[in-house]
Amino acid sequence: MIVGSVKEDALLDKRISITPDTAKNLTDLGLKVYLEKKYAEHFGISDENYKNVKFFDNPNELIKNSNLLAQVNCPSTNLIENFKENSIILGILNPHKNKEILNNLVQKKVNPFSLELLPRITRAQSMDVLSSQANLAGYRAVIESVYEFEKAIPMMMTAAGTVPAAKVLVIGAGVAGLQAIATAKRLGAIVSATDVRTASKEQVESLGGKFLTVESSENLETKGGYAKEVGEDFKKKQAQMLEKAVSNSDIIICTALIPGKPAPRIISEKMIDSMKQGSVIFDLAVTQGGNAAYSEADKTVVKKGVKIIGISNVMNRLPVTASSLYAKNIFSFIRNLYSKEKK
Ligand code: NAI
Repeated sequence: MIVGSVKEDALLDKRISITPDTAKNLTDLGLKVYLEKKYAEHFGISDENYKNVKFFDNPNELIKNSNLLAQVNCPSTNLIENFKENSIILGILNPHKNKEILNNLVQKKVNPFSLELLPRITRAQSMDVLSSQANLAGYRAVIESVYEFEKAIPMMMTAAGTVPAAKVLVIGAGVAGLQAIATAKRLGAIVSATDVRTASKEQVESLGGKFLTVESSENLETKGGYAKEVGEDFKKKQAQMLEKAVSNSDIIICTALIPGKPAPRIISEKMIDSMKQGSVIFDLAVTQGGNAAYSEADKTVVKKGVKIIGISNVMNRLPVTASSLYAKNIFSFIRNLYSKEKK
């Protein structure tokens, strides 16, 4: 069986799906690995770093010769012609957005596995691309915000005076939110967080954050552990509860998402108006419509001195780490598909 991977569109995504380490894991499993030439050169990883791997100049040739293609994103229309019958494609294929491409692949009897749709069960943890990438997104959102925030984060008592600790508010305490809390705590911030899922309260508190609860009689968690869309009554209560917390915050990290739906709008224009000049909002939900008013993909919007940052692919700010975890998720999935003994 041949596992291939072609370069992503470098303008959109710098990540790779097969690292030199996971290429070795794949060949140790008895599989062949084919990569496009200069596959990871943008990371300073030359083709020579990949042992026992065959390189192709032409991505179409590579795909024609592979049984399984491992990608980060869904391949473009011009590449799908080349897939063999019964071959497999793995990646964050985004079937909602790429319905036509994936339908064409299925018609050609290609088997697509969209890894973001894997159930979040214990057995699938090592293949869980949403967790591996969201964890890094939460970390990086804090780092980017701190970079834009023109004050120090920890409290410092010096002979020249005391610097107060920055206050960080995290909206949504899933995988990204929890890592944002942990990162902000490590930097010395005072951290609070809110979520619609009551289960997250304990997790926030275990990281040293203060949980801001919205009292509600509704159960807002699905059986799968995801958030449900909230009603108008909850929205009103949440807005009232957040008014003071938002105006007191120096940095807000927005991570709230509802699978398959637009992101909930939680931070209003009025709330942003009440924030101190120099405060920062980082909206990780920007590509799904954003949790904060004014947020725009790949822009920093400044409103009355408050910076609202939207980066559509925050993984491009730490693509080496993101790739190393993503490649391990991919390897883990392939290892589960393939039996060395039965080939
Ligand atoms: P997500 O990315 O879909 O959403 C992020 C967070 O936003 C969630 O915590 C959600 O409850 C919250 N949210 C949604 N609407 C909100 C609103 N209106 N106001 C405030 N917060 C709002 O979630 P993620 O990070 O993918 O996690 C989903 C679930 O999967 C969680 O329960 C998590 O613990 C679970 N999980 C389980 C794993 C396992 O292996 N068992 C691995 C990873 C996650």
